[in-house]
Amino acid sequence: MNSICIKDISKSFNQKQVLKNLSLTVSSGEIFGLLGPSGAGKTTLIKILTGQLSYSGSAEIMGKSCDSLDRSIYSEIGMVMDNSGIYERLTCYDNMMLFAKFNNVKKDVVVNALKRVGLTDVKLSAEKLSKGMKQRLILARALLHHPKILFLDEPTSGLDPATANEIHRLLLELKADGTTIFLTTHNMIEAHKLCNHIALLNEGHIVEFGIPDDICRKYNKENMISILCRDGKTVTIINKPENATQIASYFAEEKVEAIHSSEPNLETVFMSLTGRELDI
Ligand SMILES: Nc1ncnc2c1ncn2[C@@H]1O[C@H](COP(=O)(O)OP(=O)(O)O)[C@@H](O)[C@H]1O
Ligand SMILES: [Mg+2]
Repeated sequence: MNSICIKDISKSFNQKQVLKNLSLTVSSGEIFGLLGPSGAGKTTLIKILTGQLSYSGSAEIMGKSCDSLDRSIYSEIGMVMDNSGIYERLTCYDNMMLFAKFNNVKKDVVVNALKRVGLTDVKLSAEKLSKGMKQRLILARALLHHPKILFLDEPTSGLDPATANEIHRLLLELKADGTTIFLTTHNMIEAHKLCNHIALLNEGHIVEFGIPDDICRKYNKENMISILCRDGKTVTIINKPENATQIASYFAEEKVEAIHSSEPNLETVFMSLTGRELDI
């Protein structure tokens, strides 16, 4: 079953077309990653899907058209966007309680959500939180009502690797619980690690879509095996059946320190597709 279904979506701001005839589907229970450089249109697409922007074409979440979502949808989806809506002067706990009251969520659910994201110092006011702690608070709040779909706009942008890893662990846990996750990122390693499917958005077009490993293999034009030998030398051999004995001999003679295949990583694929680096 599909949680998100987009057909021929376009969006313009002041005559400038930002999204150009996008089509894609996201299955229920998967982590989907929308990748692309700054200005590609990632946030615009999330805003369309969450009913915050008008568009032309067809977009549905959980079978409901995104141009006529009513308020009840917000009890089924969660969002983590730039404009966090956290009240700086309130404590973590009070920020959560405020949101909990709007959504008829009980106190013990709030306590558990804070625990789940590892926020222990809940009496700290939000203005005193580090960037990573604040992001965890926003995530905890987005999870309070057990949304079926979670939209995350660059959830780990600017976070240190340890905090980013914590968030990755949590997202994988949520996926295991059946939550559908739609995230945007320009971190290729994150996308490869987390996402079942990814789409690369560049200048308003989807220029690639698929399973991360498949995409990397598709662009493995060189198809080489590279062997780092114990004597420090590197040998590169074309990966084809005729060379199997030669490759095996390196193992038989215990010469192999490390072995790699030449498929590019997502970063390299996307740089070659867009002519741009993604972390800008
Ligand atoms: N409200 C708006 N008014 C005018 N232009 C906008 C607005 N929102 C986004 N844009 C433009 O649309 C393009 C895509 O923006 P955005 O979706 O934020 O990209 P991304 O999230 O991939 O960095 C950019 O050129 C941006 O300047
Ligand atoms: Mg953005």
